[in-house]
Amino acid sequence: MPQQPAAASPPTVADSPRGRGWWQDAVIYQVYPRSFADADGDGMGDLAGIRGRLPYLRDLGVDAVWLSPFYSSPQADAGYDVSDYRVVDPMFGDLADAGALIDDAHALGLRVIVDLVPNHASDQHTWFRQALREGPGSPLRGRFHFRPGRGESGELPPNDWESIFGGPAWTRTANPDGAPGEWYLHLFAPQQPDFNWDSRAVADEFRSLLRFWLDLGVDGFRIDVAHGLVKAAGLPDIGVHDQIKLLGNAVLPFFDQDGVHEIYRDWRRILDEYGTDPATRRIAVAEAWTPSLDRTANYLRPDELHQAFNFQYLSTGWAAEPLRAVIGDTLDSMRPVGAPATWVLSNHDVVRHRTRFGGGSAEQDLRRARAATLLMLALPGSAYLYQGEELGLPEVLDLPDSVRQDPAFGRAQGTDSEGQEGMRDGCRVPLPWSGPAAPFGFSPVEGGPSWLPQPAEWAKLSVEAQTGDASSTLEFYRRALVTRREHPALGAGDAVEWLDAPQGVLAFRRAAAGSALVCTANTTTAR
Ligand code: BGC
Repeated sequence: MPQQPAAASPPTVADSPRGRGWWQDAVIYQVYPRSFADADGDGMGDLAGIRGRLPYLRDLGVDAVWLSPFYSSPQADAGYDVSDYRVVDPMFGDLADAGALIDDAHALGLRVIVDLVPNHASDQHTWFRQALREGPGSPLRGRFHFRPGRGESGELPPNDWESIFGGPAWTRTANPDGAPGEWYLHLFAPQQPDFNWDSRAVADEFRSLLRFWLDLGVDGFRIDVAHGLVKAAGLPDIGVHDQIKLLGNAVLPFFDQDGVHEIYRDWRRILDEYGTDPATRRIAVAEAWTPSLDRTANYLRPDELHQAFNFQYLSTGWAAEPLRAVIGDTLDSMRPVGAPATWVLSNHDVVRHRTRFGGGSAEQDLRRARAATLLMLALPGSAYLYQGEELGLPEVLDLPDSVRQDPAFGRAQGTDSEGQEGMRDGCRVPLPWSGPAAPFGFSPVEGGPSWLPQPAEWAKLSVEAQTGDASSTLEFYRRALVTRREHPALGAGDAVEWLDAPQGVLAFRRAAAGSALVCTANTTTAR
């Protein structure tokens, strides 16, 4: 096995420079628990698997880990359908495993951010089940959006909203006596009923949930669909429109309503109760798809959240001029609210950036992906990495339909609204750790299962295969993260100095503490 290079030692949790929040230049690594590491050999990743691989993340040189949901869930949307927010799903472990993972991460100098899913629950959540059982008029129905249907006998949905996964955003229920009854709203799958945030019980429950996980020691929350909690009064029709997209930025009566900000001001007060020392502060990052970066900045006013994903950046192609525009817009929008810019290229909902930016050949894909990564890491602010990008994993485009689990796949008849094959399973294939054959050390069982099949070619992309090979993507990420940590001009900041560059090339300079750095990215095919 190739020699493990000496690990750069990341700072411990207490080392953050005073006065500057740890999150302002943190590199945050997204772990998708189903696909990271499987300790018990059932083919599904778990918390014990993640715990065992924390030293790998420390050695990679990231500052924090964001874990996608591992709570009790029927898995209709891979855990984003939560049936009990205080319980770890047995397929991932238990609460003791979560506590141990947090403690181990802290001991290694890594912070832990967990996902909070406040827009919707699972239809197996006790409140929803009881609301169905009790029938129309039950006070529990007030915690969701139940409405009578339109049409003569209520046979039509209450409005024209569509689910982000395709099809109507409403499902009709049966009354306790079996007769057709009210409809309920679900912006996502029918198994994900939306909470009604006008309900006091909902707001109280989420305050209590924040405290529950903060008391367990988490350093922050990633807030799922943060822009969706408040719906426009009266749930008005939209009229003619394209299929609503998860990654869209249209102005809609169920996204980015001004009322959401009251919720985040309230949550900020709770986070602040846990301390305001910048080195140990608990933070929240919004998954907020909004029409513009200025609207995103509203979530980051000083009494609201700390960060928001930069989906405008993620949605920009590999082309210098649009990249320069979105980088400039981002910095200009964040400056007035004093929030750090964030940058992200891949996550569990989008085609991996190696494939997205691909120019056709595997070699060119990789060169572009690496260039995009270096550019991202040179920008001022905080950066998000998605598990496996450090291995240069491509999107898996040829998964058989029979193994796909993304609910969007079934609802959209196998393609997304633009006819693109793949949906979201292709970026969720379990990681290759070691060995010549699947499951490549993902599970401890030789030849054992993995919930999605891994391509045979991933043998050469495994952590083991890349470790110690200076030309590998993994060693490239390790070096990039060391440079980012050590160079005084990298990391936090709110501006770049643009330099003249030929068409298709992006060049900027950053300077701090007597040091300077120039970043140049060539987005053309010329070498
Ligand atoms: C998550 C998705 C999920 C959706 C519904 C998103 O934004 O990232 O994976 O399907 O919210 O919870």
